[in-house]
Amino acid sequence: MTYSRIVGTGRHLPERIMTNADLEKIVETSDEWIRTRTGVERRHVAGEDDTTSDLCVAAAKKAMAAAQVSVEDIDLIVIGTTTPDLIFPNIATLVQEKMGIHGCPAFSIEAACTGFIYALTTADKFITTGTSKCALVIGAEVITKLVDWSDRTTCVLFGDGAGAVILQPAEEQGIISCHLGADGQYRDLLYYPVGAGSQLEKAGIVEEAKILMKGNEVFKVAVKTLGGVATEALEANGISKDELDWLIPHQANLRIIQATAKRLGMPLEKVILTVQDHGNTSAASVPMALDVGVRDGRIKRGQLLLLEAFGGGFTWGAVLLRY
Ligand code: COA
Repeated sequence: MTYSRIVGTGRHLPERIMTNADLEKIVETSDEWIRTRTGVERRHVAGEDDTTSDLCVAAAKKAMAAAQVSVEDIDLIVIGTTTPDLIFPNIATLVQEKMGIHGCPAFSIEAACTGFIYALTTADKFITTGTSKCALVIGAEVITKLVDWSDRTTCVLFGDGAGAVILQPAEEQGIISCHLGADGQYRDLLYYPVGAGSQLEKAGIVEEAKILMKGNEVFKVAVKTLGGVATEALEANGISKDELDWLIPHQANLRIIQATAKRLGMPLEKVILTVQDHGNTSAASVPMALDVGVRDGRIKRGQLLLLEAFGGGFTWGAVLLRY
């Protein structure tokens, strides 16, 4: 049986760091409130000229170096993002062009914060069916460009960044199983109202656009759904939660992560946490957390990892893999 296996990881964060103290100067908030309600201490914010594709390219180069592959080897590019540079051409073709890669399929997937999990799942199918031999899979976002910096209920949460992995075929176990889900009945709990053909654009009031979120309700569904999809992934493979070496969750909020880990009976020592330094970077959060764990030596070859995410839609997903 052929598996797809992660052979290299990389991440890139914009230079500018915004601390909770910086936010105190912009909105009526406090470091204490943000830390206790979200776990976020600082976040990286893209500069005016930084595009999502720039972040992608920087993260991709690091993942390719780690995997020891060159641009000639890449035969598939899949990017999960909600903040592409343009509506079209799709961002994966922009990354392709910036990296000097020609001819391979390149496309993006929009599933909000679950974008990377959807992208990884898709690339896994290309590899395991023999269609691709070396996939570049990225989760990237400049979500702060959608943030209303006068809305304290959302602006304290988000940050920008990109995480990338290289996926190749292997005879030994890599990705074991992928579990995706979505339910559009929750569309109004977390969304951004502007896009091509949106009602606001039609009404000519685009400038009012901002991230709209019912935080309390999102919180409750997130905890329940993340616990559910994690259990589904383990049960599908007859694996007990004690066998997991690392949980790598979407970094939306420390309290959501704690509640999910508790439901799984996993101590926080077995959870990779980046929310304090990155904030919620949407589709970038899981691959960046993976890269943090790999590069600081906590995640080792052969260990069992559970990646999971949840986002607007709602969308959700989990990937169980042996690193
Ligand atoms: N600073 C200070 N006070 C704030 C604040 C801020 N940045 N944001 C909100 N508040 C206030 C509210 O106005 C409210 O005041 P009130 O009681 O006088 O009305 C109070 O804090 C409590 O607000 P509430 O929304 O109930 O707080 P909470 O404990 O639910 O925390 C979130 C808010 C957003 C942190 C939390 O609901 C959350 O994380 N939800 C999930 C969001 C998420 O993860 N989204 C992305 C999913 S991928």
